[in-house]
Amino acid sequence: MEKIVSEGRFLEYILNSMDESLILIDQNLKIQYVNPSGERLFGLEGLPYQGKHIYNESKFVQLPFNYDKKVLDEVLQTGKARKDVLRKTFTGRTLSMNAIPLVEEGVKKGVLVTGKDVTDIVDMQNEIDMAFALTLPNSKVEYKLKNTVEYNDIYDPQTKMITITGIISDGGYRHVVNCLKLLSHLYQKGIAKVIGIDKDQLVQAFIFHDLGKTQPVLSIGDIVDPKKAFEDGKLHAYRGAEIAKQFYSVHEDIVEIIRYHHHGEHELPGTFPWRLRPMYRLFQVVDGLSASITRGGGKVEFSVQDCTLTITEINHRPQYNGTWQVDLFTGTKRRLES
Ligand SMILES: [Fe+2]
Ligand SMILES: [Fe+2]
Repeated sequence: MEKIVSEGRFLEYILNSMDESLILIDQNLKIQYVNPSGERLFGLEGLPYQGKHIYNESKFVQLPFNYDKKVLDEVLQTGKARKDVLRKTFTGRTLSMNAIPLVEEGVKKGVLVTGKDVTDIVDMQNEIDMAFALTLPNSKVEYKLKNTVEYNDIYDPQTKMITITGIISDGGYRHVVNCLKLLSHLYQKGIAKVIGIDKDQLVQAFIFHDLGKTQPVLSIGDIVDPKKAFEDGKLHAYRGAEIAKQFYSVHEDIVEIIRYHHHGEHELPGTFPWRLRPMYRLFQVVDGLSASITRGGGKVEFSVQDCTLTITEINHRPQYNGTWQVDLFTGTKRRLES
């Protein structure tokens, strides 16, 4: 078939017409090319940016405070792509960016950076967050959640120490929001039809469960023994239960779930009623999944059949991928072969 445009023009048409912004950088981090959409988004129209160093001689995006390991340096060094890095432009837009190394015959030639404008999605997310804040019992609860930090870390199995790699300043808030998101997925799958599972009580339990938490003050790069640096979860669970009961008059069933949310099943006191066990088990599954999502992405899928819940985890660390089942009535857990 006859070509309607020449190959050279075809590439030009693509680069001019796409909404995504695209930057080509050589191995010395000098800018080779920016497409028209990128010029607009980064506010570069009419500026002599070509041949300039992307970090030192030009301004594309606002870099995080205390930023030493730059993404493009890293991509060039490791030869591995980085995806979904969120950055704000100086024109006030939020971009989700990918940096892909360009390697020809084993030689690193540069990096191709693409950026997708996600400002509207991020704004919508913020609005949902604000709407959620209005449903919280009061501003002290909101304050506590928004000021409880969570840390990203890497665990070294040899030394059993962790290195702090990131700080999520509103980690408590993010954790509860993720718990509720997971709960709403489960609700769609029919979890609230299971005897012993009460959606409204679970929502209450999630909002209050970690209010008794106190976190150590750590900095990025700190290497600590997690057993020494972090308090035993049972202690904040106890305090959370007291807070829910004494300050917010929460239903005693919810208080009990909060009190024991870090106990293993075999550690529960004999007085813990069986009727609360299905909800307690479900609570622990969601709490654990939310903690891992809050601290580093990953996705979860559920299916519910009678009182058995099947969970499939798709983690950014593939060694955690897998499918497992929990029987909410007996507490039996089993991992399925993948
Ligand atoms: Fe907790
Ligand atoms: Fe939690």
